[in-house]
Amino acid sequence: MKINILTLFPEIVRPYFTNSIPAKAIEKDIFSVDIVNIRDFALDKHRTCDDEPYGGGAGMVLKPEPVSLALEKVTENLKTPVIIYPSPAGIPFDQSTAYELSKEKELVFLCGRYEGLDQRIIDYYDIKEYSIGDYVLSAGELAALVIVDAVIRLIDGVITNESLREESFSSGLLEYPHYTRPAVFKGVPVPDVLLSGHHENIRQWRLRKSIERTLDRRPDLLHNKALSEEEKAILEN
Ligand code: ADE
Repeated sequence: MKINILTLFPEIVRPYFTNSIPAKAIEKDIFSVDIVNIRDFALDKHRTCDDEPYGGGAGMVLKPEPVSLALEKVTENLKTPVIIYPSPAGIPFDQSTAYELSKEKELVFLCGRYEGLDQRIIDYYDIKEYSIGDYVLSAGELAALVIVDAVIRLIDGVITNESLREESFSSGLLEYPHYTRPAVFKGVPVPDVLLSGHHENIRQWRLRKSIERTLDRRPDLLHNKALSEEEKAILEN
């Protein structure tokens, strides 16, 4: 996969790719990343990238010309780029969107600043607008990295299949609690079943904990999920 990130603040974006899982995946050639400074495409000597909104109101808007030039430069050698604009006004980004995006070959992220982006850019380039949650960040860089992170870990070879299969949302439930050594910490013992070595009992305990946690914290997830007979039996008890 090729990832391009268009931003006015490359220095916010760059460090993410130099550590841990993303750095290893780049080393293994699973994806590549190109970070492009939108300001390099500004037209005037002050390298202006923002302007006042038509119609008045607070804040500034990203000027369309530098963004358009940057987008055209970045996409000129791409075949089927999916262009993403992270925005609190976007459609909700979730795990199923992450799965879909993980199958793409070319992703382009356009990070907004100020009050937003000229709408003609979004319409002209058929840009997908995604929100990562019901809160407002000061800019799009962190949201773009959240989306990148959720997507790249789903590409084959980035993390083990085992970790993916068991995690929250792959089952439609929140994940069960985890414990590691020592067996007693601050006087609190690890649940006995996890020390029993009995795999089937452990599986059932984890499923029960997942269901209880989901019911407590995210009952909305249960309404949208097709439950197995075993899950229904746990819920009814
Ligand atoms: N930019 C600012 N806030 C955002 C949000 N909640 N999601 C995506 N992009 C954003």
